[in-house]
Amino acid sequence: MGAPRIRISASLLSADFADLGAQVRAAEEAGCDEIHFDVMDGRFVPNLTIGAPVLAAVRRHTDLPISVHMMVEDAGILLEQFVAAGASMFTVHVEACTHLHATLEAIRRSGLRAGVTLNPGTPLCAIEEALPYVARVLVMAVNPGFGGQQFISGTLPKIERLALLLDDAGLDADLAVDGGINADTAPAAVRAGARTLVSGSGIFGHPDGIAAGVKELREAAASAP
Ligand code: DX5
Ligand code: ZN
Repeated sequence: MGAPRIRISASLLSADFADLGAQVRAAEEAGCDEIHFDVMDGRFVPNLTIGAPVLAAVRRHTDLPISVHMMVEDAGILLEQFVAAGASMFTVHVEACTHLHATLEAIRRSGLRAGVTLNPGTPLCAIEEALPYVARVLVMAVNPGFGGQQFISGTLPKIERLALLLDDAGLDADLAVDGGINADTAPAAVRAGARTLVSGSGIFGHPDGIAAGVKELREAAASAP
């Protein structure tokens, strides 16, 4: 069996917000597969970021899929705004979503791909019933809210168990990991079963620039046996 194809998703949280168009174009030119768009409400997480109007502006600068990571209470209320703005995927936190099944169905009906995500302290069983309804599970490897945090290696067994769970159920949902992903941590995440690597500071904060960050990450991911 050959090495799995790994997708790299560039998290805009660490990009230069005053120059998002150029940053997104550079991420696409560097070979990223996706743009990761972090939305925070200052309630579910202690930080505020960007919303649908900014996504609409970013949309004009790239043909890549834009995956929205909603760190927001009752994110479903905002779904239509993000559909109109040109989002490709809409991922909600199980901890912040009272009616998870209904929300995932609404996302699917809207034409977007549905994702579910869970915090490091949330057990896998919290999302088990949702697996048949999602195109992606996003495993948080840091507590959400801020970029540049250290990868919590205790989440690796969770990624492994999730990969088995999906396999056993015959589900082809993507397994993504978000938080603290860089050239040092990517190989272990890939070995555990991650197929999409979300990285913010590892790409936009790389000392040698965006292209170097993406190249390093891709090489590191490929080095995972
Ligand atoms: C954190 C965000 C992440 C963040 C990751 O709450 O969800 O997407 O941008 O940043 P790094 O890669 O710097 O940990
Ligand atoms: Zn994120």
